Amino acid sequence: MGVLWFLFVILAAGKALELKNQQYHQMPQLFQLDDYEKCLANGRGAFCLGSFNLVAPPNNRLFNVIQKISEERYNFNHTRIHRGYCVSSRCSDVEEVSLRRKFVKCVKNITQTHHGFDAKLSSLDYCKTSKTPPSRPIDGLDVAFIYFSGLILLMNVIGTIYDFARNPDHKPNRYLITWSLVESWKRLANSYESGNPRLTSLNPINGIKFSGSVLEWPS
Ligand SMILES: *[C@@H]1O[C@H](CO)[C@@H](O)[C@H](O)[C@H]1NC(C)=O
Ligand SMILES: *[C@@H]1O[C@H](CO)[C@@H](O)[C@H](O)[C@H]1NC(C)=O
Repeated sequence: MGVLWFLFVILAAGKALELKNQQYHQMPQLFQLDDYEKCLANGRGAFCLGSFNLVAPPNNRLFNVIQKISEERYNFNHTRIHRGYCVSSRCSDVEEVSLRRKFVKCVKNITQTHHGFDAKLSSLDYCKTSKTPPSRPIDGLDVAFIYFSGLILLMNVIGTIYDFARNPDHKPNRYLITWSLVESWKRLANSYESGNPRLTSLNPINGIKFSGSVLEWPS
């Protein structure tokens, strides 16, 4: 029984593949990517990347086939095509000032001319020229750092508010008062005039503490 089932799967897969091979080259290519580096190496180069949905006239035979192929579980969705064009060279005959519109018109024109389908922009990833400053995407570590800094800032706010609101005659909560900016500034700027010779002899340390905080300030 297991062997029969296995054979059935192989045959079914073979049939699907056959259909795919037959029609494959009639479909608009899933991806078309121009050479990004070469494009932007030119001082006037411009490169756009985006995805488009194919739109066909009703009852278009090829489009129905494409939809059917796309519904198969392990196939790409071929009704959504992905294009990365060197707009400055590939689309030089499209009259548009806006890069985005130039790109969209260009993809529409090429898809229409080669396959007879309309293409509707579904998402534009970017348009870049050689003058666009390079950007680095925000990653998990950046987000963690933002949360961490935000938490410290929040504790400062809570501590400072607590410091202002508390009754000065009572002993402050030492966990909250640690975060108070006013209290921290006092501790940073004041030396301990305690009259205790052991503490007074440590006064130079305050200088180091202060220089340390000034040095750390710009970072
Ligand atoms: C393929 O993509 C199009 C456009 O995003 C969507 O409408 C359609 O449902 C998708 N088809 C499948 C089988 O996922
Ligand atoms: C595509 O662009 C060419 C050249 O600009 C133009 O002659 C042609 O009519 C356009 N085709 C479509 C379908 O827009």
